[in-house]
Amino acid sequence: MNKRKTIFDTTLRDGEQTPGVSLTNEQKLKIARQLDKLGVDVLEAGFPISSQGEKQNVRAIASEGLTLDVCGLARVLPKDLDACIDCGVDMVHTFVSTSDIQRIHTIKKSREEVVTMAVDAVERIKEHGVKCMFSAMDATRTDLDYLTEIFRAVEGAGCDIINVPDTVGVMSPSRMYNLVNSIYKEVNIPIDVHCHNDFGIAVANSLMAVEAGASQVQCTVNGIGERAGNANLAQVVMSLHSIYGAKTNINTEYLLETSKMVENFTGIRSPPNTPIVGDNAFAHESGIHTHGVLEQSDTFEPGIMTPEMVGHKRRIVVGKHAGKHAVKKSLDDMGIETTEEQLDEILVRIKDIANKGKRICDADLHAVASAVLGRNLGQETIILKEFSVMTGNLTTPTAVVRATVGDEEAVASNFGVGPIDAALKAVEEMMGGYTKIKVRDFSLEAITGGSDALAEVTISVEDEDGRVVSAQSASADIATASVDALITAINILLEKKKLWTMQ
Ligand code: KIV
Ligand code: ZN
Repeated sequence: MNKRKTIFDTTLRDGEQTPGVSLTNEQKLKIARQLDKLGVDVLEAGFPISSQGEKQNVRAIASEGLTLDVCGLARVLPKDLDACIDCGVDMVHTFVSTSDIQRIHTIKKSREEVVTMAVDAVERIKEHGVKCMFSAMDATRTDLDYLTEIFRAVEGAGCDIINVPDTVGVMSPSRMYNLVNSIYKEVNIPIDVHCHNDFGIAVANSLMAVEAGASQVQCTVNGIGERAGNANLAQVVMSLHSIYGAKTNINTEYLLETSKMVENFTGIRSPPNTPIVGDNAFAHESGIHTHGVLEQSDTFEPGIMTPEMVGHKRRIVVGKHAGKHAVKKSLDDMGIETTEEQLDEILVRIKDIANKGKRICDADLHAVASAVLGRNLGQETIILKEFSVMTGNLTTPTAVVRATVGDEEAVASNFGVGPIDAALKAVEEMMGGYTKIKVRDFSLEAITGGSDALAEVTISVEDEDGRVVSAQSASADIATASVDALITAINILLEKKKLWTMQ
């Protein structure tokens, strides 16, 4: 475990095979640059033979001058290999089915023919002076003697690294250990693993492969990929670093940033409870936990992994299970001072609201505190005067907002993909001259039925220093509810910012 492990990222190839995902050339380039900054060792940029567009993308990434090795995927067919080499990649990843089930029903070749094709492919790649990785596709359902034979044959042909794909994700951690360990004893070149997540154990299987001797792991950002996806990069890397004490080249403080970029480009959001990068990965709500964490963070966090290590933030959430410490901390952050009795009363009222099934936002806490303290806390810096939005099938959704910001009058307009997007962007635009804010989360729920349903918008905004504030608003008009919630959140955020600047 003490030798450095390398990370092979296949977000742009297997990750893009996620049903419904299609990335533009520009998005792929941005992801490639981000993965380079993250410190990935090898990036699989695509499958050049699959289309002219794909070939151009791979070529563009290969000519970016990135530090990482750019790799292209190819079957063991000369036209595939040449398409890859043509793109100027550093490595060709060539593969062929080796399990009987795939060999007989898909490529319809004998075992001997498959070995010959694999060896020829490796030789062709090496003749061009390019690094070569060979994958025995469906290795985990391949007869072990035959698998060993083909791996030895490609090693003899000059292959640099072999890959053991668990193509249909059927391995258990102990079987993965045994398989990789047997191969490790038979070959002298590095071993890479590629685990699919059909049973949700791709990360565990990858880690067992590393324990058994694999030195490289294939992953995707957010675990996206064919069917249930691939091993999740952040989870593999942080487990290697924090649990196994192994080293990789990954700059872990960019893990969250990278995850968010891939979420935005693919439209695939990770659930809040996703390890490491999920919104709740370092969020605490229950009284016992928040009390502990506020005293010393590793009482209820792993300690061997902190939010800072992965570019995340610890969050104390005020909700149904909150205790006094959490409420006090949140009020302190808003600059609201209370007596012990007032604090107790705020806690009771907050729990009452939460017990009715409502999610508590910063704005709710602010409103409850105002009521308990009997005065309006903090001034509203922004007061909305006018707001309109135009939409329809013949027009680009456009919104205009007019408000007073402090003593000034501010007006802004913007376009969007829909009326809400236009409205929120117009408010962001209006605030641009004062402070940089961005909408971090937005959710919309119909709380009554029918076409006149009351819609509840929950929004959270973040400023340039990473302060996050959430607010809710309900209205029969979704654009009005959205703007209202956004302005409430910004007002509280500005209060927090003021307080912080005064410190
Ligand atoms: O899952 C798989 O077997 C693959 C190969 C191309 C390595 O993605
Ligand atoms: Zn795969």
